[in-house]
Amino acid sequence: MKKIAFFDAKPYDRIWFDKWNKSAGGKRFQIKYLENKLTADTVDLAHGSDAVVAFVNDTLNREVIGHLQELGIRVVGMRCTGYNNIDLHAAKGKLTILRVPNYSPYAVAEHAMALLLAINRKVHRAYIRTRDYNFSLSGLTGFDLNQKTVGVIGTGQIGRVFVKICKGFGMNVLAYDPYPVQGLDVEYTDLNRLFRESKIISLHCPLTEQNRHMINEESLKKMQKGTILINTSRGALVDSRALLNALQKKHVGGAGLDVYEEETSVFFEDCSNEIVTDDVLSLLIALPNVILTSHQAYLTQEALSCIAKTTLDNLECFFEGKELKNRIEDAAPL
Ligand code: NAI
Repeated sequence: MKKIAFFDAKPYDRIWFDKWNKSAGGKRFQIKYLENKLTADTVDLAHGSDAVVAFVNDTLNREVIGHLQELGIRVVGMRCTGYNNIDLHAAKGKLTILRVPNYSPYAVAEHAMALLLAINRKVHRAYIRTRDYNFSLSGLTGFDLNQKTVGVIGTGQIGRVFVKICKGFGMNVLAYDPYPVQGLDVEYTDLNRLFRESKIISLHCPLTEQNRHMINEESLKKMQKGTILINTSRGALVDSRALLNALQKKHVGGAGLDVYEEETSVFFEDCSNEIVTDDVLSLLIALPNVILTSHQAYLTQEALSCIAKTTLDNLECFFEGKELKNRIEDAAPL
């Protein structure tokens, strides 16, 4: 039976991987669940395994990839869609990297809308107030989403579901994508106009070398006063310090962030007994018009189930020499 070293394992991962790892005769794989993230310091934990399963904040740089090769590992199953944490040049010809190209665009798009609704209608503040028997409404005024313009950056699987949800709220949608989708009920435009005319901006594109910090001091200045920014994509799309400044100057009206550019060391972990030394993160969290969730947009039962099934199916296809549909190099040709 092939052995898998499963990095950064959480209880909610195990439920679904254990379920889909069952086969009629017992188990499909022998899975070693490791709490550690994959890094140069932990890569040796994969010793004796045939495959590695990794996630968004695991490190797959040249050094780690070299170590994996030395350990005789030829395949990595990413249990996620994004692959910005992988040095694809270093992996080329050494490792086959498989991913889960789509599991539930609804999970992420619905979370983006949850963040928007909560920020706009100040649900997080109302919740705290009424628990303390403070039934005052002062400071809780929002605005109707109906007829407002939302700018959607990236109209792939998640962006398209988000567009549909926004349409259901009666919103006007402007969109930017270098590869526009034919027949989608949106008005495609350039980024400058999208920044200028949108009351809400939601990011649904992958992080690449080209669009790192696409939301920066300059682009924030182009936005309307009071714009709400939603980021459920990747943290480094946004220059967090520039966003913090724009929020402090009250130019940006609010932010719903499920991702953060320096999330690797803190997200998915309980840091409540520690002193977090990332000042930008602390200041963002402290603002009343920011909601930060810990990369949880994907966290629905349907998504977790699909992630586990696809990851194990991907590895099975690899070991059985079957056609590989979900190779990262097919999604990101070098
Ligand atoms: P997708 O591949 O279906 O769509 C991405 C779209 O972005 C494509 O239409 C592409 O043409 C477009 N795009 C590429 N570069 C762009 C740019 N510079 N500006 C604007 N658009 C650009 O991907 P999907 O499934 O919709 O996921 C989008 C992103 O959401 C992923 O790359 C990932 O970073 C993030 N994600 C976040 C999750 C979370 O839990 N917070 C879970 C899953 C994905």
